[in-house]
Amino acid sequence: MKTNFKTDKFNEIQTPFYYYDLDVLRNSLDVIRKESENSGYKVHYAIKANHNPRILKLIASYGFGADCVSGNEVTAALNAGFSPDGIVFAGVGKTDREIETALDADIFCFNCESIPELEVINHLAAKHNRMARVALRINPYIDAHTHKHITTGIEESKFGINTWEIEEVVRRISGMNNIKMLGMHFHIGSQITRMPVFKSLCTRINELQSWFTNHGQHLEILNIGGGLGIDYENPDKRPGFEDYFSLINEFVDLLPGQQLHMEPGRSIVGQCGSLISRVLYIKNGSNTMFAILDAGMTDLIRPALYQAHHKIENLSSSGNIFRYDVVGPVCESSDTFAKYIELPESHRGDFIAIRSAGAYGEAMASRYNLRNLAPAVFSDDL
Ligand code: LLP
Repeated sequence: MKTNFKTDKFNEIQTPFYYYDLDVLRNSLDVIRKESENSGYKVHYAIKANHNPRILKLIASYGFGADCVSGNEVTAALNAGFSPDGIVFAGVGKTDREIETALDADIFCFNCESIPELEVINHLAAKHNRMARVALRINPYIDAHTHKHITTGIEESKFGINTWEIEEVVRRISGMNNIKMLGMHFHIGSQITRMPVFKSLCTRINELQSWFTNHGQHLEILNIGGGLGIDYENPDKRPGFEDYFSLINEFVDLLPGQQLHMEPGRSIVGQCGSLISRVLYIKNGSNTMFAILDAGMTDLIRPALYQAHHKIENLSSSGNIFRYDVVGPVCESSDTFAKYIELPESHRGDFIAIRSAGAYGEAMASRYNLRNLAPAVFSDDL
């Protein structure tokens, strides 16, 4: 679905700002809800992708659960209307306070990553007279073939429990009175565009599931995490939810009564958001022309951090095509959105849209250089 840039309304708004086309978001949510209803799989939106309260409220209104990675995210999920029994809480370093926040809310499940963490959760659950439901996050050793900074399921990853430790973990849990083990959790990385990677994950899940069955353990849930990628080259293209669900359906051997959970983040919110800025100056470099924007890496850090590609469009000009390095005003050479890209001839004041910025854009913004945080503007309000 095509983003509708209401540029005539943009004149009154100070740039840079995040523009969210809520029709695009609703369109994605409609498709996922349909897939989820048809398959019976439970969707927990990964809040880290975008925690804007308005976005959270809209997603919560579809009845999805939430995947949180901090106590504050648990609180934000509850405030937005996500039901506690749809909240899962992941992370390698949960603090006591965060665990207590989640216990207090009686969330659905902790995704646990180590024996020491399980011991602390058991201890705190006993202290607060609670039963903590947990899933074991297991490192399946599958290369997601994505950027190294967002690969999480290989041998050197800090995430998850090693497969050779599972037996010990299960033995230890049997002695923990305030822990109820529900099943397994996985997350091998983000922006995964090669579908065979997910197929490998499904096969690995089946193998691990057999281990549990052979050891007399029935798992109530299998949580396959998130990771479904989006097409940054085609921002108006919806992610392949249908293919993703049907792949899982084909390759995960669910046992009777077993529930499959997933935690998509980027695929839900990625394409509905654009960072809108204006050209401040066009400046000659020795080999290139710089288009200097009023948005910078503090607003959208993905290009600087992961060399991520975001499509850039000039919404104000349709002139002859020139090549530009599109950069921000921050005092860092890495404050570069794109190098040597084609744009129509650009001038001071033109609106520039940096597309596919709905996920990990606003959520990762900082105030470096004491810059303001870019506000959010919603299509419904214009
Ligand atoms: N579940 C867990 C346990 C995760 O760690 C993540 C993302 C997700 C689900 C959601 O994954 P998604 O469906 O969004 O791929 N800042 C990076 C992405 C970091 C992802 C971290 N974990 C970026 O801008 O590309």
